[in-house]
Amino acid sequence: MAGFPTVRPRRLRRTPAMRRLVAETHVEPSNLILPMFVKEGLAEPRAISSLPGVVQHSRESLRKAAAEAVHAGVGGIMLFGVPETRDETGSAGVDPDGILNVAIRDVVAEVGDATVVMSDLCLDEFTSHGHCGVLAADGTVDNDATLRAYADLAVAQAAAGAHVLGPSGMMDGQVGVARQALDAAGYTDVALLAYAVKYASAFYGPFREAVESALVGDRKTYQQDPGNVRESLREVALDIEEGADMVMVKPALPYLDVLTKVAEAVDVPVAAYQVSGEYAMVEAAVANGWLDRDRVVLETLTSIRRAGASMILTYWAVDAARLLRA
Ligand code: PBG
Repeated sequence: MAGFPTVRPRRLRRTPAMRRLVAETHVEPSNLILPMFVKEGLAEPRAISSLPGVVQHSRESLRKAAAEAVHAGVGGIMLFGVPETRDETGSAGVDPDGILNVAIRDVVAEVGDATVVMSDLCLDEFTSHGHCGVLAADGTVDNDATLRAYADLAVAQAAAGAHVLGPSGMMDGQVGVARQALDAAGYTDVALLAYAVKYASAFYGPFREAVESALVGDRKTYQQDPGNVRESLREVALDIEEGADMVMVKPALPYLDVLTKVAEAVDVPVAAYQVSGEYAMVEAAVANGWLDRDRVVLETLTSIRRAGASMILTYWAVDAARLLRA
């Protein structure tokens, strides 16, 4: 059949140069944010078995790893603290000598403005019951009592020098209360990356080991139902109204449709968090020889960017940055 087919999309896929020329989606190291864990009292970094390749840092190893991440060109670092002791109200989070606040100071002293230093604004790493807030007498999470604690947390993290705070507890009003507290304390330049859309996801499993969470039960009264998308648009609208400078969708890969809708709906930068379970399942398959790690990592990051994320929190940030530069 001469002259058929007349349209041949394969022409534009023929060589690497041609494919590069027509590529619609790019991932840059500067789009990637590395989540890092630091544990109080550790002398040496300690492996996290459900997150192969990720560690709980000591203060010293955190500084070193942060400098390496900057050298690799990552766009940001998100810090999580693991305290030695926890209590009902999570008071170690507010303590200026608490591990997260100390770590923020360490990392800012190490890297300065060479990358964006962010911290998780939540109570779950600091509470003995593992919930993201303060409990009421009936055992439920007390929204408004938690907001008061978040205001103090926000000021403590800003005082420690964080450039961006990530309110992640899914309490109503958490962004507004953080913004007001920061402004009242003179931290008008500290930005908020709101975990605006956060599902009650089984994919956070390995994170619980990373922060040694004591959580019994679940977070379904404050995190979102996986089947819903309309409320995600409502959550981002509320957070932006309350002062969010950037919004996040979490997890990433199982929620790409949500990410796309959010990215279309808002005019602030949108982040996606490729969470611990997304990382762990790929690493497990790689360990079995079933997947090609480098290709899968870049494909997932490309997909998340294609769906609409400006930036991606990923435990592969440094590896991916190196792959992208190679
Ligand atoms: C809450 C927080 C969690 C994660 C990031 N911030 C845990 C949760 O909401 O249950 C999970 C991140 C991951 O799984 O990689 N402080």
